[in-house]
Amino acid sequence: MRMRKKKHAEERIAACGELLVTEPQSFSGKWREAFAARLERCVDTAALSLEIGCGKGAFILEMARREPETLFVAIECCREALLLAMEKVKDAGVPNILFLHENAADLDQIFAPEEVDRIYLNFSDPWPKARHAKRRLTAPSFLALYARILKQDGFLRQKTDNVILFESSLENYKALGWRLSDLTRDLHASPENADNIETEYEKNFSAKGFAIQAVTARKP
Ligand SMILES: C[S@@+](CC[C@H](N)C(=O)[O-])C[C@H]1O[C@@H](n2cnc3c(N)ncnc32)[C@H](O)[C@@H]1O
Repeated sequence: MRMRKKKHAEERIAACGELLVTEPQSFSGKWREAFAARLERCVDTAALSLEIGCGKGAFILEMARREPETLFVAIECCREALLLAMEKVKDAGVPNILFLHENAADLDQIFAPEEVDRIYLNFSDPWPKARHAKRRLTAPSFLALYARILKQDGFLRQKTDNVILFESSLENYKALGWRLSDLTRDLHASPENADNIETEYEKNFSAKGFAIQAVTARKP
């Protein structure tokens, strides 16, 4: 995400310090127990959900409000977006969200095998040119990372307005044996829209008339 530099960014990030995990590798395999106090019920069975590329954070904030017993981890490589998302969550006072200023390519150093229940990919950068396909967050190299950290019955939920990204993602899921469900090429006109949480990009693109595509993929 390209964003203007924010004024006093470092002071503002420091003010949200309790939400930012700066050495996430040290929590690999221990996320639930380390942050159990942030959950409504401190249970070992709490779900652990990730959003990769959380942008300004509207989606994960509403998810965390709806599921106070789930630990949410928002991963964002753009510091300006991360700052806005953290400030939104801090103002809302929702405790069960943590933030990582990290690249998704490093996920397997941060989460242990089969530690994660769900991964959300919302409006990931589409990288529409074929020569950039490896950068898409549903490229085979990323799917291999997700398959490693997701639980056996875990799943990934993807939403996008971009047809090229969506179709290439579907090809990759199928080629690698992921099982697909709840596939729609017009989410807002589908019954599933009832409990859909719109992201910032989603609001913007649907207002411009783009159909929103979505799919759930379960690892092989
Ligand atoms: C198009 S924006 C969508 C933001 C938000 N999910 C939404 O729907 O409003 C994609 C976001 O993913 C982040 N991103 C892209 N590649 C990433 C990566 N490899 N690791 C972490 N974040 C990434 C970008 O910085 C950007 O904020």
